[in-house]
Amino acid sequence: MNNQNFTGKVAFVTGAASGIGRATALAFAREGAHVAIADISEPGNQETARMIEDLGGRAIAIKCDVTRSEDVKAALDKTVEAFGQLDFAFNNAGIEPRKAAPTAEYDEEEWNRIIDINLRGVFLCMKQEIPLILKQGSGAIVNTSSGAGIIGIKGSPAYTAAKHGVLGLTKAATLDYAAQNIRINAVCPGYIDTPMMGRFTGDTDEGRAKVIAEEPVGRMGTPEEIAAAVLWLCSDAAAFMIGHAMVIDGGQTVQ
Ligand code: NAI
Repeated sequence: MNNQNFTGKVAFVTGAASGIGRATALAFAREGAHVAIADISEPGNQETARMIEDLGGRAIAIKCDVTRSEDVKAALDKTVEAFGQLDFAFNNAGIEPRKAAPTAEYDEEEWNRIIDINLRGVFLCMKQEIPLILKQGSGAIVNTSSGAGIIGIKGSPAYTAAKHGVLGLTKAATLDYAAQNIRINAVCPGYIDTPMMGRFTGDTDEGRAKVIAEEPVGRMGTPEEIAAAVLWLCSDAAAFMIGHAMVIDGGQTVQ
């Protein structure tokens, strides 16, 4: 259970139309933050915003493709216009590979698509968020990596490289701004029960069982379990933590 008080704070969350991003947007709102929901999916954005309003919170839904710097800039401009400032950013938008293939047979377009959204998207977001947080005087950024940022995934060179890249980017960027009160960390989720995981497992009992078999705790994680870690990393309780890759994975990567 979180008991951070983020009243008066403003959080920008990408990939907030679904799964981990939506759960984190809701968690920020429950702790009193105003939330900007930035996702390429307009209906999903609206739904998350409505869920926050139902909780009595304030949110704005912004259509944003994280691979387009002009979209990212416009989304952050709208955030500051609506709420006056930026304190926290959760750079979480991401996609899963369409199919597995060994490295030498990996499709070049698929490589570009995954690196573009899962790695370059995080860079483009931080590039625009950091000046706004600097203006605010202090704040925190959390980037979504993965178990695939810790270990290699057979047949998944692009996703593995992108998620390892997110950790490298997190470490380099946090050193750049450590002395200016911006803390940048990452989360590395294990198998989490989201729409992405539904696509990955084919939403069948057999597909789910295969994934669960890789989890020592014997279940998938919930999006709320990742949201709790993100909020903690943004809170003052994590004031001395920078450049950290927080693994929340039921033991998947310690085997
Ligand atoms: P999801 O598919 O439920 O949600 C991802 C969201 O990102 C979607 O709403 C989608 O519209 C959005 N998105 C995709 N491309 C975008 C773009 N170019 N610009 C803006 N938004 C875009 O997925 P989930 O599971 O919530 O994943 C969130 C993050 O967590 C991703 O970065 C994923 O790689 C990572 N992750 C997920 C794990 C899992 O088991 N579900 C495990 C480890 C990492």
